[in-house]
Amino acid sequence: MNHATNKPHTASANHLNQPADRQLAKRSTSLLISGIGELFTNNPAQGEIMHDAAVVVDGDRIAWVGPAGHAPAADERLDAGGAAVLPGFVDSHSHLIFAGDRAAEFGARMAGEPYTGGGIRTTVAATRAAGDDELRASAARLVAEALRQGTTTIEIKSGYGLSVADEARSLRIARELTDETTFLGAHVVPAGHDPADYVDLVTGPMLAAAAPYARWIDVFCERGAFDGEQARAILTAGAKAGLQLRIHANQLGAGPGVQIAVELGAASADHCTHLTDADVDALAGSQTVATLLPGAEFSTRSRYPDARRLLDAGVTVALATDCNPGSSYTSSMPFCLALAVREMRMTPAEALRAATLGGAQALRRTDIGLIAVGARADLILLDAPSYLHLAYRPGVPLVKTVLHDGVPL
Ligand code: NIG
Ligand code: FE
Repeated sequence: MNHATNKPHTASANHLNQPADRQLAKRSTSLLISGIGELFTNNPAQGEIMHDAAVVVDGDRIAWVGPAGHAPAADERLDAGGAAVLPGFVDSHSHLIFAGDRAAEFGARMAGEPYTGGGIRTTVAATRAAGDDELRASAARLVAEALRQGTTTIEIKSGYGLSVADEARSLRIARELTDETTFLGAHVVPAGHDPADYVDLVTGPMLAAAAPYARWIDVFCERGAFDGEQARAILTAGAKAGLQLRIHANQLGAGPGVQIAVELGAASADHCTHLTDADVDALAGSQTVATLLPGAEFSTRSRYPDARRLLDAGVTVALATDCNPGSSYTSSMPFCLALAVREMRMTPAEALRAATLGGAQALRRTDIGLIAVGARADLILLDAPSYLHLAYRPGVPLVKTVLHDGVPL
């Protein structure tokens, strides 16, 4: 495995983050993308939005960005036909290793039942009963579904195994699909376990079995899942094992999750729906990204997080799908982006930035989420003249072409 547990993460040596049948595809020539009507670079040095631009890709990297009239020659050419070109989406939060679905639970919720997270145990039972091939095929299908919608990097968590063997195998399978794997043994306390004993299991044998396949560790810090003291113990043990930190924080109610994230230097605090002023201040003075997951509020019919309050306080915000069978069964970053604009009062540019560069920052990556020389050649061509159409035309499949590591989908 190419995985290094502690080094700053800038690149994957192999071709993960894509379905297995694409892992051998590799660009060996240069490609000029011309006819770009609008280029959203996320690179202030270049101009965040450029018009009449061109991009040259060489191998799996961006080699040149500039005005179309000055573009150098390349082996091949792709004419964008006046379309908008954007960085590939970075989905920094998903739970794709599971079996079964919970459509009936969703139906009950839409008829008035509240979301409590209790359905996690239903998915745990189905996941434990599934074979490796079933889990692999289901996750690969979702990764491919996301890729078609423009997601070129995806983080995948375990958390529906909750035994030493099932968490290790979930991460082993996740690792076949992405470098950005997260150990979430602390999702809930599984039925029949004493909470204190389960924390010992998570921080002991389960962590040891999971760590070789994981870059990150996460905890669901919430009433009914893990309290602040347990979350701190689990994250601290993960850090000692060489994992970096992220946390499910303040989703269903106020709590200590965000403060713990900041205190321990986590890369990201995810959900952030119920925040106090002190939580916002702590995030604003930190390197911790607030990752907002509006698919979860949509699918649980809950109040959306206050993105404006976070942005206005100077917090770095990411958007991600939280794709999972319970609280947010969508793999669509464009859908989440449209929700963020309509329901969370983010501007279209803020939402796109959060869905690309913000996700990269939440994964502590500098090689993705932007269109700049040296970055990975992960680009989306829209069937639209401007990125504005992503929120302006919600639900429309506007992602026309995806270039992943320089290879067109
Ligand atoms: O991020 N909050 C905890 N975990 C998931 C939900 C998992 C489930 O309901 O299966 C989330 O929303
Ligand atoms: Fe989640």
